[in-house]
Amino acid sequence: MNAVLKMMSVLVIAAMPFAQINAKEITLYSVYGGDRLDIILKPFTDRTGITVNIVSGESIELINRMTEEGENTLADLHIDKDLVFQGIANQAGLYRAFDSEFIEKTVPAPFKESGRNFLTLFYRARTIMYNPNTVSPSELSTYEDLGSPKWKGRLCVRVANSSYNEGLVAFLVTHYGPAKAERIVKSWMNNLAVAPMSNDRAMIAGIADGRCDVALVNTYYLAPFVAQDPSFPVKVFFANQNETSNVHVNGVGIGMIKHTKNVAEATLLMEYLLSAEVQAPVAAAFGQYPVNPNAQIDQTLIDFGSYKFDQTNIGTISNFVETAKSIMKSSNWK
Ligand SMILES: [Fe+2]
Repeated sequence: MNAVLKMMSVLVIAAMPFAQINAKEITLYSVYGGDRLDIILKPFTDRTGITVNIVSGESIELINRMTEEGENTLADLHIDKDLVFQGIANQAGLYRAFDSEFIEKTVPAPFKESGRNFLTLFYRARTIMYNPNTVSPSELSTYEDLGSPKWKGRLCVRVANSSYNEGLVAFLVTHYGPAKAERIVKSWMNNLAVAPMSNDRAMIAGIADGRCDVALVNTYYLAPFVAQDPSFPVKVFFANQNETSNVHVNGVGIGMIKHTKNVAEATLLMEYLLSAEVQAPVAAAFGQYPVNPNAQIDQTLIDFGSYKFDQTNIGTISNFVETAKSIMKSSNWK
């Protein structure tokens, strides 16, 4: 991981097209701490003279803090792990629209919120994983199919209290409407092998040790298992490839804070994080796909296979998160 990131200083300083501007400080509120971000941000500071202070914390804690701080907040930018929390921050009125030609031409449409209030930096699929010793990929097709009788007692899910699941159910609502989304979620709950598991790694372990035959997991969690053991008995299946919806993706996102007084510097940092030279190594370190189509995808992810992903705008999905939560509750998803 760090070896990949170390290459960055050399690559990025040589490649950065940005003009030197007056030395300044900006502040990034982030769910990722300095231990992960310092090495990514150092080349930016070296090149521009702009220091980036990181204030890290849990998703909701940071959103509440920015709300309380109002126009006195130090935050210029906000990074979170997915569209659920970016959506909450946006609905709380914390963001302002970004305005950058580079961002417009670099970031594919689904990953830019339609009001330009937040965007995705790196993404992953939340999709089906399976045990190749008990399941043939020819038996797999859609998210909806995981509710069919053939998967009775064979499906594993993570606990309901997970923004990843909220995003996935919000995606179902977007495509099928709330009534059908609820039928699908209830059919999954009927098929569970064991009680909902505490995290994605537990589901992967559950597939490998035979407790689960199929599960709904984020792609990046599998990468370290496969790196350690190439014959690890868990495989990725990209759902909904023959549907109009395709597989659900969600990702690490960034938004500019409404009360920032450093719009130019904050825009520069967003552009830096989206440049192909930064996207490739950082996406690899996070085990995710770079949102910039010109950035190279990590080989482990290429080995998972290529796929078509859902083209719904991240802002649209985030608007259905509250509906998703009530569906999960009424479906008795624990
Ligand atoms: Fe995660």
